[in-house]
Amino acid sequence: MNSTSLDTLDTPAALVDLDRMEANLRRVAEYCRAHGLAWRPHTKTHKTPALAAAQVQAGAAGVTVATLREAEVMATTVDDLLLAYPPVGEAKRQRLRDLLRRDVGLNVGLDSPEALGAVASAAREAGREVGVLIELDVGMRRVGVGTPGEAVALARLAEDTAGVHFRGVMFYPGHIRQLAGEDDPALDRLSGVLESSLAALESAGLPAPVVSGGSTPTLWHSHRIRGMTEIRPGTNIFNDRATEAVGACGWEQCAYSVLATVVSVAVPGQAVVDAGSKALAREELRGEGGGFGALLDRPEVVVRALSEEHGVLDLAHSDWQPRVGDRVRVVPNHVCVSVNLHEALWAVRSGDVVASWEVAGRGRSPYAGRGASDGSVFLQA
Ligand SMILES: Cc1ncc(COP(=O)(O)O)c(C=O)c1O
Repeated sequence: MNSTSLDTLDTPAALVDLDRMEANLRRVAEYCRAHGLAWRPHTKTHKTPALAAAQVQAGAAGVTVATLREAEVMATTVDDLLLAYPPVGEAKRQRLRDLLRRDVGLNVGLDSPEALGAVASAAREAGREVGVLIELDVGMRRVGVGTPGEAVALARLAEDTAGVHFRGVMFYPGHIRQLAGEDDPALDRLSGVLESSLAALESAGLPAPVVSGGSTPTLWHSHRIRGMTEIRPGTNIFNDRATEAVGACGWEQCAYSVLATVVSVAVPGQAVVDAGSKALAREELRGEGGGFGALLDRPEVVVRALSEEHGVLDLAHSDWQPRVGDRVRVVPNHVCVSVNLHEALWAVRSGDVVASWEVAGRGRSPYAGRGASDGSVFLQA
């Protein structure tokens, strides 16, 4: 598309600052190169095939997906996927089989014989073999086997089941949000849990070639997690207010915002914008600042309350005097759930909209490839 001024966009609109996004991609690619880690970003954040392609162009070894829809969409631009979610149920088994009939490399993370059986049967029907990563619980208490013995038993089952083979292990350290410093005990505890499973697998004759982990809050400390070979940060492509609050990015590294218009200043001490919970998502920041987001250019102005289509900006700590019709950019607390509320992302450079992408990976239904988006990739050499 030809570039057009940001002023012509209707609001609310999901914006991506390309300069910032590209800097975020370069930074993580350089970090991974420096520490010998493979980078497999989680596409649940952007759900957009052109951005998955940009990540691969910047150095990603492949991408991660959570839903079958994301897998179907990302398979249009990337040929190496990790489905980091157990595909349970007949409908998902069939979608997985259909995906495997396409020319795409796929590994699956899982933690049960049932999910393993579904993956194996889908793979056999598709005439393929799928790599399995055994998911370990390293402290989050969400999914993942809890002991080295269970990891060995499931890895052995994978080796003994036609259609699948044991590729390694995966984990997600979602319980580690705020790191205190270089000697943070949380990372040592995590490394200890991981090492005992890796050692048990090794002595059972099942060494794990892939050890996939990582998150955005722990991103810049990934090299301290002993034994990990690959990281899967998702949020980091855009960052958000919660990421800044845990110290994993600076405010100037927030690449995503929701463009909104001031629609009312009738109540003193506040301004109301047309971005509510259906544009920003209702995720309250725990800790300092609170609220549901903050203005990109005036971070002291916090979204204090949300209705579905109204966002209430608190002016108590600002000398800004907004008028009806003013436009602002709101950085949400949690970017992934905000993106998921928008049909399209608008790519912005130097105040101009230079492209738009359909957020094709949102939704649940099988992807039929409709609504083809502008597939441009913006990374400069
Ligand atoms: C399995 C898995 N891997 C990777 C990620 C990416 O983590 P983050 O959002 O911290 O970047 C997530 C996030 O939910 C996840 O669930």
